[in-house]
Amino acid sequence: MKTRITELFGIKHPIIMSGMSWISVPKMVAAVSSAGGLGILATGPLDANQTRQAIREIRELTDKPFGINASLLFPGAADNARVALEEKVPVINFALGKGDWIVQMAHEYGGKVVATVTNYRHAKRAEEYGCDAVIATGNEAAAHGEAVTTFCLVPSLASGLNIPVIAAGGVADGRGLAGALALGAEGVAMGTRMMTTQESPLHENYKRLSLEKTVNDTLYSKRFDGLWCRVLDTEGARKAIKAGLNPIKLIQAIPNSRAIAQQLGLPFTKLFIGVLGSGWNNAKQLAYMANAFKLIRIATEDGDTKNGVLPVGQVTGLLNDIPTVREVIERTVEEAEKIIKELGEKVGS
Ligand SMILES: Cc1cc2nc3c(=O)[nH]c(=O)nc-3n(C[C@H](O)[C@H](O)[C@H](O)COP(=O)(O)O)c2cc1C
Repeated sequence: MKTRITELFGIKHPIIMSGMSWISVPKMVAAVSSAGGLGILATGPLDANQTRQAIREIRELTDKPFGINASLLFPGAADNARVALEEKVPVINFALGKGDWIVQMAHEYGGKVVATVTNYRHAKRAEEYGCDAVIATGNEAAAHGEAVTTFCLVPSLASGLNIPVIAAGGVADGRGLAGALALGAEGVAMGTRMMTTQESPLHENYKRLSLEKTVNDTLYSKRFDGLWCRVLDTEGARKAIKAGLNPIKLIQAIPNSRAIAQQLGLPFTKLFIGVLGSGWNNAKQLAYMANAFKLIRIATEDGDTKNGVLPVGQVTGLLNDIPTVREVIERTVEEAEKIIKELGEKVGS
């Protein structure tokens, strides 16, 4: 299958694995890229040195193009993006911020830059300052989709932009890929589907749960990490959302921020004083993130379903097996090609 996205990235299939913190690790990225898609490394939980090591590890595992994701609102994300630029990573994907400086530096060595967006205004701005493509994340996606669903967001961006659009949120198989292409996308990004694969480091407890849950079994709230966020409906997620940032959670955020201080290479007290001085809104957002990071880590690594929280998309309800990433990619393309071919016969002509 050839689209403007396969041409832009130099890949075989128009399928991307989203950057997912704790999941999109080097071996996953390399597996996706080796199978003809584009794997994207998540740098959320990494410091600058770890990001550099992870990029080098990917290069040892595959000679195919790959990308890195930096969610610019996360602490240390800009430093991680700078490392990726120094390492001349072929595709830089940024989210939750303005990446004009990334565009400028990536284009100097021929790198491509993709903005993750949830609305037309941000997408247009990203196109204007030189992004090569956008990932349009709909409401049904894991983590930070916003109000508009993929079904409406993709055509609205495809008609208003000249750069190609990649659809994210709600895609798990060939039906999703064919549908996204019909809506005007030139490729898809899959998170939840890729997370439940054999190579994925996700704990077995959650792989099993992801298969049991239906499309209705997610929670969408601003009270988990301070942004609109979709997570799997579990006891742990309900508890976290009910508590929000109550006084106990606010106090818990102090020790939980130690991991962030470590990631930034800052003494903890310096971070603490700096955050307090940056105003209540910033302090609140960082407190939310510190607690959320811990809960996602204990879900993905320890498999704790009573206290952990796992971002997942509504497509969790469409999953019924744990294939390899290569199987996901190949059968998605085959199924989409079959659907596209048969659609004409189905509706008659
Ligand atoms: C466990 C998990 C962690 C994620 N972490 C990040 C992240 O660090 N940065 C980011 O931009 N998106 C993150 N996402 C969102 C994905 O990049 C992507 O937008 C989403 O998974 C697409 O929707 P889908 O799950 O329906 O395929 C995460 C998703 C999951 C499932």
